[in-house]
Amino acid sequence: MSDIAAAPATPIQADQIRADQIRADPIPADQIPADQIPADPDPAAPIPADPTSADPIAAPVPAASVPAAPVPAEPFLVSAPGVYRPQSDTGVLAGAIIGRAAARGRDVLDLGTGTGAAALAAAGSGARSVTAVDLSRRAVGVARLNARLHRVRLHRARLHPARVRVHHGDLFAPVRGRRFGLITANPPYVPSATDRLARHRSSRSWDGGRDGRLLVDRICDGAAEHLVPGGLLLLVHGGACGADRTLERLAGHGLTARVVERVRIPLGPVMRARAALHEARGLAEPGAVDEELVVIEASRAC
Ligand SMILES: C[S@@+](CC[C@H](N)C(=O)[O-])C[C@H]1O[C@@H](n2cnc3c(N)ncnc32)[C@H](O)[C@@H]1O
Repeated sequence: MSDIAAAPATPIQADQIRADQIRADPIPADQIPADQIPADPDPAAPIPADPTSADPIAAPVPAASVPAAPVPAEPFLVSAPGVYRPQSDTGVLAGAIIGRAAARGRDVLDLGTGTGAAALAAAGSGARSVTAVDLSRRAVGVARLNARLHRVRLHRARLHPARVRVHHGDLFAPVRGRRFGLITANPPYVPSATDRLARHRSSRSWDGGRDGRLLVDRICDGAAEHLVPGGLLLLVHGGACGADRTLERLAGHGLTARVVERVRIPLGPVMRARAALHEARGLAEPGAVDEELVVIEASRAC
């Protein structure tokens, strides 16, 4: 959860993506008229149960629906006040999705999508379909807008990324009964003063309860029943939450889990503000100037 400077001037190539290359909005948030944030094409429609429970690897999608090569990740993301601006953890997750070709040919679910950065990384790197969910209505509007801009931009380049459908709701609730080939998440994970999470404040983007695990644990508990056989979860969180606890929890649901990436990033403003609390609880070294991020991959057996 570090803070990030202004947006880059040049597009990012998928194979070059780094944590510091997914950045905040070049369009000032207060210049986005509310009426330009698009509604979902069919927001009231019930989400049909996914009829495909087949392994997406065993049942490849038609070649025509998968771009021949990964297309560039979305470098220009609109945001709005109260919506989590893409930061280092966003970049690490997007980098893992693209670098591991994890979305290719799969139906993807991005939990806590924020601006939609990870969802767009999946859409641009060969996903068959992308569904995104966020508890914040404003994030849902912003993600829909980014998805539309991304699609228009790639269509102009004669690339045809998967459509991103964005739903408002609590984690898996909007996709009950559906299964995906890839679930991605950069959930709130910063240890906070209490286990009571604010419902309508920016802090719901990062507060994860006393040990930072309220959302992480719920994702671990819900992932298996929303993955097709052979499906993957890619989850990023701070080291302070305990990667081992995540691995154990996922294993408890029959998933094979491992840490696939560890990176250190400078403390951002939220972590700096919490430093004393984290030190007092033994979650951070005294005087620490950086924090660890871990990417965990969990797979469901075929
Ligand atoms: C750390 S931000 C990550 C945003 C984005 N995925 C990214 O990587 O930039 C966490 C996101 O989770 C959302 N969120 C928090 N609690 C949620 C819940 N119970 N269900 C769905 N989304 C939630 C927040 O609104 C926020 O957009």
